[in-house]
Amino acid sequence: MEGERKLHVAIVMDGNGRWAVQHGLPRVAGHRQGAQVVHDVVAAAPGLGVSALTVFAFSTENWKRPKEEVDFIMQLFVSTVTKWLPELMERGVKVRVIGNRGVLPGAVRTAVAAIEGKTASGSGLHLNVALNYGGRAEIVAAAREFSEACTAGTAFPHDLTEDRFSSYLWLAPDTEPDLVIRTGGERRVSNFLLWEMAYSELFFLDLLWPEFTPDTLASVLSEFRARDRRFGAL
Ligand code: FPP
Repeated sequence: MEGERKLHVAIVMDGNGRWAVQHGLPRVAGHRQGAQVVHDVVAAAPGLGVSALTVFAFSTENWKRPKEEVDFIMQLFVSTVTKWLPELMERGVKVRVIGNRGVLPGAVRTAVAAIEGKTASGSGLHLNVALNYGGRAEIVAAAREFSEACTAGTAFPHDLTEDRFSSYLWLAPDTEPDLVIRTGGERRVSNFLLWEMAYSELFFLDLLWPEFTPDTLASVLSEFRARDRRFGAL
């Protein structure tokens, strides 16, 4: 990857439930397998020229799922990140969680604080986990924070620029994904990184997230590198 620009890859990991059903397993087994895929992709990403990875683990809409499945995903997040922590630290991975933390279960908030704190000095891959995340909620939170600064007299409406607004977003300073991958066959963005993906290349894959491998990522990246990125210019 010498000489190639490092990339920020964002992923909507869809299809865990369908993969489990296809294998005669309960839906939650698909999430467990999906977490293993995250592990393998995190390990492979730096060698493929990826410097930041943002994965959609739980959306603001996912609370509508049965309570047992919601509890399982939350518990899976806590147990896997806790298990992976020594390896993540060894690899220099810097983990950040984006999303509305306020309503997350206490054990999840504690695990999030621990993993962020212990990986804060990581100088390798930036791994952003979107947990209770919604793109609109992120934009509204940024607007609210800016308005509060205006009310407090520390910011002024006429000073607001796109760059300034970006600085209030949860994902800053890793903001813009070069490419967004969605597995599972649906062609939509589902409230993921709405502001940040303005210029991202989109890749919709029919395979289910548990079927995704580092080789899949490598082939998407080579297609990405072959695409002509013009940002609206000729
Ligand atoms: C979407 O598949 C997947 C989720 C809502 C959960 C994804 C969570 C993980 C892979 C665990 C992440 C853990 C870490 C440590 C980052 P779906 O259930 O919507 O699948 P379906 O469309 O087939 O029903």
